[in-house]
Amino acid sequence: MSIRSVIVGLGSYLPEKILTNTELAERVDTNDAWIVERTGIKQRHIAAEGQVTSDLATEAAKAALKDAGLTPNDIDIVLVATSTADDTMPATAVHVQHKLGMTRGAAFDFQAACSGFVYGLHMADAFLRAGSAKRILVVGAETFSRVVDWNDRGTCILFGDGAGAVVVEASEGETTRGILHSEIFSDGQYAALLGTTGGTSRTQTTGVVTMQGKEVFRHAVSKMADVVERSLKATGHTVADLDFVAAHQANARILSSVAEKLGLPAEKALVSVDMHGNTSAASIPLALAAAKAQGRLKEGQLLALPALGAGLTWGNCLLRW
Ligand code: COA
Repeated sequence: MSIRSVIVGLGSYLPEKILTNTELAERVDTNDAWIVERTGIKQRHIAAEGQVTSDLATEAAKAALKDAGLTPNDIDIVLVATSTADDTMPATAVHVQHKLGMTRGAAFDFQAACSGFVYGLHMADAFLRAGSAKRILVVGAETFSRVVDWNDRGTCILFGDGAGAVVVEASEGETTRGILHSEIFSDGQYAALLGTTGGTSRTQTTGVVTMQGKEVFRHAVSKMADVVERSLKATGHTVADLDFVAAHQANARILSSVAEKLGLPAEKALVSVDMHGNTSAASIPLALAAAKAQGRLKEGQLLALPALGAGLTWGNCLLRW
């Protein structure tokens, strides 16, 4: 019997401290009206001093396990997508494993920037369908506030801290739920469009975020729309079959442009970026968690989860919730 990878638990976590646009305008030459008009972002959450990525990830993972009715030792692999690891090594994922009290299985990080969560679902699906695990925690967690240049108004307005997690389970029975199709891509020729000014090997620092915003915007719209269309085509669906597109939450204008390009009604494009800014690998599960809290997510719905991030990396996961 074929195996289907089904999301059986969803959790998220946002740090307590909120930084509003008006507060940001006290640091750099910007204003609430410009930020809302150009990005849709109203506020972002900032990790407390001493609170690290694995702390955020652990809270989201605990919530996902609770939602699934499972314990940490029901999990075989912890996958953490992050560009803002606690340490250069070991992996943030092993700290999450330990903080969860999990004493078995394997845990590791991977880095695909803002596409991290989709890469994680793609990997989890491959592990589960290969039979090498039964349940996998996929976590996207970031503390971008630690690598943002707080003097650069072109980037510091965009990013925030947060985490989201799902438990993905191998289902061998008859089910219509689960991951129907996923694909991941990258093209390193665009590496200079979005990145940091340093890193472990190159500068022995983290560096700060730099971005060519307009170019990234253009790639985000065309590539995210394209990967959704590819998944629909591969599975014999049309845009009209989609209940929601939960795209990477970078900018509300990107989300509405993707919807427009697909011919998707605007209300079917989930938006939570207004509440937390761009949280990179955490943004898709945060958007799903917000929709769930609003009572909008229902079993059986068809969802596309496209993302694009530094690399450039991009991809999509089409699933029945
Ligand atoms: N507040 C006020 N003015 C600002 C500003 C800010 N925070 N940031 C830039 N500006 C100014 C610029 O200096 C420029 O002024 P000028 O015309 O006098 O030179 C003007 O606004 C337009 O700047 P520009 O960079 O062309 O704006 P934009 O419309 O491209 O919007 C972004 C900038 C960053 C919001 C937009 O490019 C974007 O969202 N890009 C995608 C970013 C993204 O999502 N990245 C992550 C993907 S994973």
